[in-house]
Parts: sequence; structure tokens; C-alpha cells
Amino acid sequence: MRIQENINLKKYNTFGLNCIAERLFHLEDEVDLVKYHQHPNGYAKQRLLFSGGSNLLLCSEIKGTVAKIEWNGIKIIKETEQDVLVEVAAGHSWHAFVLWAIDRGFGGIENLSLIPGHVGTAPIQNIGAYGVEVKNSIESLRYYRWETGEIEILSNKICDFGYRTSIFKTQWRDKGVILSVNFKLTKDKHNLNTQYGSVIDEIHKMGELPSILSISKAIISIRNNKLPDPKVIGNSGSFFKNPIISKNTLSELKEKHKDIPFYDQENGKVKLSAGWLIEMCGWKGKTHKDAGMHDKQALVLVNHGNATGEELWAFANHVKEDVYKSYKIKLEPEVNLIGLSNL
Ligand code: EPU
Repeated sequence: MRIQENINLKKYNTFGLNCIAERLFHLEDEVDLVKYHQHPNGYAKQRLLFSGGSNLLLCSEIKGTVAKIEWNGIKIIKETEQDVLVEVAAGHSWHAFVLWAIDRGFGGIENLSLIPGHVGTAPIQNIGAYGVEVKNSIESLRYYRWETGEIEILSNKICDFGYRTSIFKTQWRDKGVILSVNFKLTKDKHNLNTQYGSVIDEIHKMGELPSILSISKAIISIRNNKLPDPKVIGNSGSFFKNPIISKNTLSELKEKHKDIPFYDQENGKVKLSAGWLIEMCGWKGKTHKDAGMHDKQALVLVNHGNATGEELWAFANHVKEDVYKSYKIKLEPEVNLIGLSNL
């Protein structure tokens, strides 16, 4: 187990923020996790446990311990004519896993192409894009609980998945670590999801027929056109969640804002587009020093160079206040705030 002291986490977070941590433990396998749990400067002093660093807004200095999950690997557990059960380690790159599946003709996660981050954090916020959420492919996961030091097998149902949420963000927040995830992927070539917005248009534009490969290529192209590459401009994808409101609240909003886009949800509620609300308030492409909202997708907070976490958070709060003033809607961050208070 590698331990570094007074280390800058800049290269480990996709916002590219300078953040000095007192100590960083690199957890290279599950045995390291147990050692870390027992180490006097390890879990006992933990301030942050992370993996891909793609969903974090970090403050400038962390007093205490930070640990990074680094174990990876993919294993086929069971295969039938219809589907395949695959176990993927928590520290495996999400997109590398998607490409591995597509290469073998295994479907179900192609709509989630190019999402940054690692496999073990995908269930925590139930990553979703282009009409698909990861909960649809998760069969179970292995979970190490801090309180007992034991490994539990959790079924999909126990995880209590919802829009950008799960039990790991609510009741069991910080209670344990996802070690690996079991995915059930399909071999059915016709079980495709091309309903979301521009996906089918993009496939036609490429001159292809719908398939898991063409869906993935189309989504990679859409994302590359709309979302900033974290290697070029620091960001963490959507910064806020899309607000979910009641139909009554929508009716009231529509009296004043006839054009407000909304999407019906399974639970009788409706989802609004935070990107639209932010754009309408004039924040799309706006910057203050190096903090800004992206010029092609207003929901993406960006670091144009040397912004600090504190500056990005202050900027995001101005956006949030303006949306509230105009629409009486409280935007909630999707990203985890570390050392910054959630207003
Ligand atoms: N919109 C605007 N202006 C903008 C952005 C969006 O008006 O600047 C409106 C438009 O009406 C557009 C609609 O919002 O049609 C939806 O936009 P988009 O397809 O870009 O999706 P989103 O709701 O803004 C969500 C996810 C993304 C995911 C896309 C595609 C959340 C918080 N975000 O964004 O996920 O890629 O759908 O499925 O649910 C992420 O979580 O980091 C992420 C990028």
C-alpha cells in the first residue's frame, strides 16, 4: 500500500483543482482496503474516499486522510445463450468496461458510453444518460461495511436506486465501500434504446443501422460535441441534478413560463431541465475569473484554468440563487462537495 504525504490531488480530480491533502493512501487491492481500515492514520482519519475523481468539488486543503480505490479487472461469471454475468472491480474505468462489453457484443450499457469515472462509483449515483440508467444492468454488488469489516452481497433491490441516487447516497452514506459490481448484459442484438433525442438522428447521419456499436459511436459523438473534455477544460459533467417537481408546481410555473420543457416521470411527477433554467437566467457561457458555465451545455460548471473549489462553489451559488429568484426552483448539486458547505 503506497502512502503519500502533503500531496496535491490536482491530477486525481476532473475539475483539475489544486487541493493539498495531508495524506493519500493508494488502495491497490482489496487486501490494502483491510490494511487501510486498521491503519492508525487510515480509515480512522478519513476525510475522503474516492476512485475516478469525476464527481468531486474539492476545497483547497484537506486536513486528514484521503484514500483512492485503484483495484481493477473484469471477470465473466456465467454465460448463457441469452446473457452474460460479469464481475467488474470497483476501480475499473467505466468507459473501458463499456468498450470491453461492446467488443464482445454484450449490450445494456452502450448508452452510457464515455461517462467519466470508475465502476464502483457508478451505482452510488446511478449514472444515467440517453434514456438508460446503470441500475437496469446491475444484478448485485459486493460491499465492505466499515462497522463490521465484513463483505456483504447486496442485490439490486436493496440498493434502492432512483434518479441520480441510491442507498449509498442516503441511509448508507459513508458506511462502506463497493468492492465490485455484477452486471447482467444481454446478447439480444435487438434490445436497443434509441429513443432519446438526437441518438437516432446521429446514427442516421453516420450512415449506420442501430446496433450496440453504432449507438455507442453516436453517443460518443454527441457527448464530444456538447460536453467539455476534462483533459482540456476541468469539469465534472452535469453539476446540478435536474429538478423533479409535482404536476401542480408545473402548472403554476407554466402560467408565467409557457415554454418550460418538462419530462413525465414514472412516479407521476415531472422532471425539468436544469440546463434550460440556467440558460434562461443568462448563465450559459458566462464566466467570472476562471469559473464558468459551459457555452454548449449550461448544466456543466467549468474550471477554465486556475479556479479554486471555493470560487467554483461561489459561482455555482450565484447561478442557483438566480434560478430560484426567477423560477422558485432550488437546484441541488449532483457533484459531491468536499470541505464546502452545502447551502
Ligand atoms: N437544455 C437547454 N440548455 C442547455 C442544456 C440543456 O435548454 O444548455 C435543455 C434542452 O431543452 C435539452 C434538454 O435540456 O433538450 C436536455 O439536455 P441534455 O440532453 O443535454 O440533457 P440534460 O438533462 O442536461 C442529462 C444528464 C447528463 C446526460 C444527459 C443525456 C443529469 C443531471 N444530467 O443532462 O448526464 O449525459 O442527460 O442523457 O441528469 C452527468 O450526469 O454528468 C451527465 C452529463
